[in-house]
Amino acid sequence: MDNPAGSLVAEFPRERTGLLPALQAVQEIEGWLSSEALAAVAEHFRLPVSEASAIATDYEVFRLVKPGSHLVRVCTGLSCRLTGGADHLRTLENRLGIARGQTTSDDRLTLEEADCLSMCSLAPVLEVDGTCHGRVASAAVERLPMWFGTRRPFAVNADASDFPQVHPVGRTARERLADLRSRAEARARKRPEFRFLVQGGSCGEALGAGEVVKALRLLTAMRGLAAEVLDGACHGMCSAGIVVEVQRSGWPRLTFTGLTKDAVPDWLSALVGGEAPLTRFDGVCWNDEGWRGLPAVSRHPFFAAQRRVIMERCGHLHPVSLDDAILSGGYAALARVLDDQTPEDVIERVKACGPEALAAATEWEVCRNALATTPSYFVVNGEEGRCGRFTDRHLMEGDPQRVLEGLLIAAYGAGTNRAIIHINGTARFSFDRLARALAKAQAAGLIGDRILGSAFSFHVELRRGPRGFVGGEEQMLLRSIEGQRASPETTPLPPPEVGLWGKPTVISTIATLAALPPVISDDSGRTRILSVSGPVSRPGIVEVEAGTTLRQLLFEVADGLRDRRPCEGVLVAGPSDVLLSPGSFDATVESLDAFSAGAGGLIAIPAGEAPGYLRPRGLTRDR
Ligand code: FES
Repeated sequence: MDNPAGSLVAEFPRERTGLLPALQAVQEIEGWLSSEALAAVAEHFRLPVSEASAIATDYEVFRLVKPGSHLVRVCTGLSCRLTGGADHLRTLENRLGIARGQTTSDDRLTLEEADCLSMCSLAPVLEVDGTCHGRVASAAVERLPMWFGTRRPFAVNADASDFPQVHPVGRTARERLADLRSRAEARARKRPEFRFLVQGGSCGEALGAGEVVKALRLLTAMRGLAAEVLDGACHGMCSAGIVVEVQRSGWPRLTFTGLTKDAVPDWLSALVGGEAPLTRFDGVCWNDEGWRGLPAVSRHPFFAAQRRVIMERCGHLHPVSLDDAILSGGYAALARVLDDQTPEDVIERVKACGPEALAAATEWEVCRNALATTPSYFVVNGEEGRCGRFTDRHLMEGDPQRVLEGLLIAAYGAGTNRAIIHINGTARFSFDRLARALAKAQAAGLIGDRILGSAFSFHVELRRGPRGFVGGEEQMLLRSIEGQRASPETTPLPPPEVGLWGKPTVISTIATLAALPPVISDDSGRTRILSVSGPVSRPGIVEVEAGTTLRQLLFEVADGLRDRRPCEGVLVAGPSDVLLSPGSFDATVESLDAFSAGAGGLIAIPAGEAPGYLRPRGLTRDR
């Protein structure tokens, strides 16, 4: 084939479900979809060109106009607009002499406005040549070319070579898991003395964590320290970066915040060079007493009011290490389910855990009862495309094995044997880390045929979805997996019985799945994860008990608005955004569902800056 797009799409099976992934692959190589590329894709899938063009037009992620050599996208979503994003866009328009949506006359640069880049805790955010930059100051906007790079086509890293294929032995699932654990312990004993987990993932990259990783690797080598410096994940304090967790036998776990590459030499000397207090560094000690002047977690302003159950491992483990997950209790809930519980037991157990869990387990039950028409599917909605919500990305990046374990438990209850995890096409780290976690889980016999020696078999496919169907709406999600147009349907079919390809289908969210292992282990504690953004002092991801009030969350955990500005209200980001007035701040996070079911984020709004399309309202009882 002469057309390069033709040879690229030839790798895709000629089934309609491969259409969107093929279009994405072509765009990532060529930067856009030319008419020649669309014709090649249409020919491969035996479609009229008009059909391929219609699909490409439906999904906003696809470009039908060639962009400039450099692509700059400025986020003006609500959190970014409240922190200077719109000013940055105007500055660039003036400086470049073009309006948003235009390309410079020499084709060097295209400037675009983005509605949310899913990093609201780092607002304001700019994306330059595919890489996001957070907390962008005006001075940095003036020096934009320093961020110019080359467009990086997405490449999946599903390397599991550091985890050998094993066949755990034992008569029960628990015994096989114990075998995996003893192998993990043996490997852990060979680890170097120091372990540094640097805030990696999307927020780490946006803050330049790579520079801290490089500095730490260099300095630990120069000092002759036996240390491993790893790409870790965010603890939830996204904006306090760069965050580095230190683990060493005999020390409590330590987490330092606000480190820069220039501060690393002094910090490392103080840390390993003696017993002197570390009070000049910001951080937290994960014990009850504190250590060398670092406060205990119970006295840390961001963590004191939180109860971390679902996020208990985020930031503390190497996200792609199955050993880390197993050594910290991972897959114990699954083994318990496989040994002791019927699918009906799982459904009843989950149903008893509150309204959201009841709805999810009821859906599994409907799917299970429809099994006469197998095959059935479990679809995981990892789209999270709405402004102010970014919890799913943190869970996928920070603890992908927990997401997989929750999926296995849910699928066992629903009686499905095949899952498709749909991940927003822009969530590069989420996909990469889940892919590696999946490869290792397969190598250990935790996903595949006869899991942990049981009769339960389960297979998982990861998919990068084209961002653009309406906010993760479920029917549209299924249509995008099928490779159909993203048109809303006026008469939606009930998904549990007639879902993907007309088969019984359960659809679940990442947060629901991640919450399941503690439910099975009787440690759920009714907590809720929320993303908090806007111009607050401590934006990030928090996990609090259901009875925590919005006031505690906004003014204790997030420390209120910067510069102590008065707060006009808080936008509850969910399927339908709702702006609550200060009169509602004593409502609990649990009651948010009364206003916006499935609410996942809060954006604090300073006085006088509420978006025109929303009027503040009170949270009333009769809702
Ligand atoms: S990243 Fe800008 S509003 Fe979400």
